[in-house]
Amino acid sequence: MVERIQPGDAIHPGKPVTVDRYGVAARVNHWITAASLILLALSGLALFDPSLFFLTALFGGGQNTRAFHPWIGVVLFVSFFVFFFQLWRANLPASVDWVWLTRLKDVVTGHEENLPEFGKYNAGQKVIFWSMAFLILVLIATGLMIWEQYFAPYTSIPTRRIAVLAHAISAVLIICVFILHVYAAIWTRGTLRAMTRGSVTGGWAWRHHRKWLRELVGQRKIGPAE
Ligand code: HEM
Repeated sequence: MVERIQPGDAIHPGKPVTVDRYGVAARVNHWITAASLILLALSGLALFDPSLFFLTALFGGGQNTRAFHPWIGVVLFVSFFVFFFQLWRANLPASVDWVWLTRLKDVVTGHEENLPEFGKYNAGQKVIFWSMAFLILVLIATGLMIWEQYFAPYTSIPTRRIAVLAHAISAVLIICVFILHVYAAIWTRGTLRAMTRGSVTGGWAWRHHRKWLRELVGQRKIGPAE
């Protein structure tokens, strides 16, 4: 069975009712991931094209940018996958996801009353989650192949050429996915507080993730009043 609620999720009666969505550890984990991706995008773009070389000033010059970028990549890989293992079950596909994907018009025009109820994550969030996981795997694998300082003896020049291309394509794709993720987090009002305060309002959960809310009620996941 698809697991939709997570151990820390709980409802708190009050005005308004709030619903815990992420604990402190998960939020710290998320923001380390976010900061590393932003730093990687800036340092990677600086190395990608001469017109963007000015971005190396943010990292103390070209040599430092070149030295820091792969290490920040390692931080992103580790922090994303620590986060990944906390969330993957709740992001497994469900039959209702097809409805979300085929009724995007109702999603973007805010007609959620025409859609079925969703669990902790909707199909859009799941697509972003799995795309991030896949792209980060490609980025770390290809990144290690082109990290000449340590791994040059293990790869041939033709292999490294393919790896550079795959690395750049995946980087462009993950920047697009990142923009989509941030846009969705801001555009769906009341979502940001899930990653800042750790909770959302009962109204937000009722509107966007009613199945998740119902499951929390069904399993008596009720905490103290706030
Ligand atoms: C400034 C940038 C970012 C902002 C404002 C942001 C905001 C948020 C918010 C508000 C949520 C909670 C959504 C919800 O529970 O419904 C969330 C979840 C999440 N974020 Fe971010 N985020 C940012 C960057 C990133 C980056 C760079 C990554 C990964 C590379 C990332 C990965 C995730 C994942 C995996 C989730 C859980 C959603 C799921 O499992 O489907 N975020 N983010």
